[in-house]
Amino acid sequence: MTSSHKESEYPVKGVALLERLRAKTAIVGVIGLGYVGLPLAVTAATRGNSVIGFEVDEKKIADLTAGTSYIAAVTEDALTSVNGTTFRYTSDFSILKDCDVIVICVPTPLSSHREPDLSYVENTSAEIAKHLTDETLVVLESTTYPGTADDIMTPILETSGLKDGVDFFVASSPEREDPGNTTFNTATIPKIVGGDGDMASALAQQFYSGVVDKVVPVSSTRTAEAVKITENIFRSVNIGLVNELKIIYDAMGVDIWEVIDAAATKPFGFMPFYPGPGLGGHCIPIDPFYLTWKAREHDLATRFIELAGDVNNMMPKYVIGRTREIVDQSSGRGLRDAKILIVGMAYKKNISDVRESPSLRIMELLHAQKTTVDFLDPLIPVLPDMHDFPQFSGKAAVSLSDMKQTKYDAIIICTDHDDVDYAALTDLGVSVIDTRNAIAQRGLPMTNVTKA
Ligand SMILES: NC(=O)c1ccc[n+]([C@@H]2O[C@H](COP(=O)([O-])OP(=O)(O)OC[C@H]3O[C@@H](n4cnc5c(N)ncnc54)[C@H](O)[C@@H]3O)[C@@H](O)[C@H]2O)c1
Repeated sequence: MTSSHKESEYPVKGVALLERLRAKTAIVGVIGLGYVGLPLAVTAATRGNSVIGFEVDEKKIADLTAGTSYIAAVTEDALTSVNGTTFRYTSDFSILKDCDVIVICVPTPLSSHREPDLSYVENTSAEIAKHLTDETLVVLESTTYPGTADDIMTPILETSGLKDGVDFFVASSPEREDPGNTTFNTATIPKIVGGDGDMASALAQQFYSGVVDKVVPVSSTRTAEAVKITENIFRSVNIGLVNELKIIYDAMGVDIWEVIDAAATKPFGFMPFYPGPGLGGHCIPIDPFYLTWKAREHDLATRFIELAGDVNNMMPKYVIGRTREIVDQSSGRGLRDAKILIVGMAYKKNISDVRESPSLRIMELLHAQKTTVDFLDPLIPVLPDMHDFPQFSGKAAVSLSDMKQTKYDAIIICTDHDDVDYAALTDLGVSVIDTRNAIAQRGLPMTNVTKA
């Protein structure tokens, strides 16, 4: 089984790999070159590791070959500096046999019944098993419930005939990437690392210390997986809380944003979270339900997760309700045949990702009311192909001049991108429903603006 580049003079497996990791002569495979995998691969390559990316999407391989980065967090300069030298990529999975470290960064979505869909992790593990060689470290970075590496990934890897902890090593190091964050990047976000056994832990810590600034070891793969899911549940629950408070304070004539900003002056015991039109993105609306599903196996309920999910899922309807009231006040005919402009289709500011974006749900709800809907988004000129919203795939954004010529009944600000001319929006003299406090934050006149 031992491949030639892995022949070892050491009696204990793993020691030779540890040496290669220290010397950065190990070959690192990253499977899935998306929002998580591409920044990781390029960061590892930039820090002198030899990286091979594995990707099934030929378009991504073609873009990389042309030197084009399709992920905002990876600049073309960063890509160019490693492209074809320390960073190579392929769709040929047989090359996995050359890798000393294999990092899995494939999607972990929910099924249509809102249950974990681990098929990408399973298929990738099966593909690795076909090419797995002695003394390889396999790391799971995809977000999932505690136990996935141990209970799902490892048994599939062992179909190779090699044994976990003896011939190959398993670790979990969930990705904490935050698209659009200009303060932290892959290299500077501390990396949680949990190995299955001492050698796996040592190998994974050594590998990541050659990629990121700070490694945070934890006692097991399960713990590492639980850390990530806890972080996402914390966000989901706190966003659910402020969304609920927004509705209550709104009814009482109290501005939730003023409350949060004042509360945040307390130097301890309070952390600000801000309300919005609902939750979006590939992580926060989805990952908590991985734990809900797993907790059922232990006959336990995850009430906070489900409550936060209910509140957050209801927010688009709340925004529609407020919009209807406002349009009705001015036109007397509610939303039917009204014309609405949505500002911001991305699920959060300054990124172009529409996955699970509440803007899409709001667009869908408006369409169901026979409302005409346009959108403006400086980062999304055309809506991409979307599995859940095929009816909107290919829809183009309006330009600023189109916007000025159209008589809208209302404008809903769903995403507060920096690169939007908010003064031009308020100058239109149309009712603005601001779900992000974008207008007040910029000190613009609040005539016609309703925070909702
Ligand atoms: N996007 C984020 O901000 C973020 C943050 C933290 C964690 N995560 C987690 O990281 C994981 C990956 O998320 P992402 O946002 O990078 O997803 P993504 O869809 O951007 O990227 C996944 C990539 O994997 C590729 N892929 C799918 N199946 C494959 C296979 N069998 N072999 C090789 N490539 C394959 C896809 O073509 C795609 O390019 C998920 O578990 C997610 O929850 C994402």
